[in-house]
Amino acid sequence: MKGKKLIDPSDLTTTEIEDLIKLANQIIQNEEKYSKCCENKLLATLFYEPSTRTRFSFEAAMLRLGGKVIGFSEPNSSSVAKGESISDTIQTVCCYADIIAMRHPKEGSAYVAANASTVSFINAGDGGHFHPTQTLTDLLTISNLKGRLDNLVIGLCGDLKFGRTVHSLIKAMSRYQNITFIFISPEELQVPDYIKKEVLEKNKLKYDESTNLEEVISKLDILYMTRVQKERFFNESDYIRLKDMFILDLEKLKNAKKDLTILHPLPRVNEISTEIDDDPRAAYFKQAKFGMYIRMALILKFLGIEVD
Ligand code: CP
Repeated sequence: MKGKKLIDPSDLTTTEIEDLIKLANQIIQNEEKYSKCCENKLLATLFYEPSTRTRFSFEAAMLRLGGKVIGFSEPNSSSVAKGESISDTIQTVCCYADIIAMRHPKEGSAYVAANASTVSFINAGDGGHFHPTQTLTDLLTISNLKGRLDNLVIGLCGDLKFGRTVHSLIKAMSRYQNITFIFISPEELQVPDYIKKEVLEKNKLKYDESTNLEEVISKLDILYMTRVQKERFFNESDYIRLKDMFILDLEKLKNAKKDLTILHPLPRVNEISTEIDDDPRAAYFKQAKFGMYIRMALILKFLGIEVD
């Protein structure tokens, strides 16, 4: 995987994903062993859009591997404010850094950046398009908490139209055996047609759609909640109308399986009541921690660093 560029989860084969999950688990078992692996290596984090988990977990990952980090979380503090293009910024950063992680609000920006990059490049989220390292986080979480990545009924709930984490997860899970999706959303925020045609129907995957979480919750092995994203709406009144349509609380969990796993890429707003946080089925903060370990594995693999 040395020198690889990651734009879309399908840039990684299932074998490469298995290798990343295996390495992340080895790091979890013995973090100390990996603490100096990236001495003299530099990660650049270029965040044109706000982030807590993705940026901090990338930076924590590199620092815990003994490497260093440069970058910006506010593009106007760089020459982006003077009108510098993504391509010129990336070509410049390649002069200084060994690996780049970039988040940008525009779909397709990751392709432009990856093409300009002469070092390993990782898409840390491009608009409503893809968020492959969140998907790797989700796969590591599911693999560790459920013990498998196949034979699962996965409910995805909330904004399934603009949610890049949802699009990436559907694509990734579609490669495993006997996966059934149940999409729970308002009609306006349903999974886009191109995902249905090009991913679900092409791969003959089973899926169902619902506007009622309570009606389907008992069928689920995994419930993946998502936020209705204010920043993706053009019209504030539509956002206000749709934002609180799905709020998971203890009442709604009554009919859920005892071993349901509740995930959320976070940040949450109202869609999971805080009363759920103490339920053993709530796994979203564990998920955020797994995010750091899978990014440690990704950095090591993309830099070609082997540890005996
Ligand atoms: N899950 C996720 O991408 O969170 P941030 O936006 O905080 O990075």
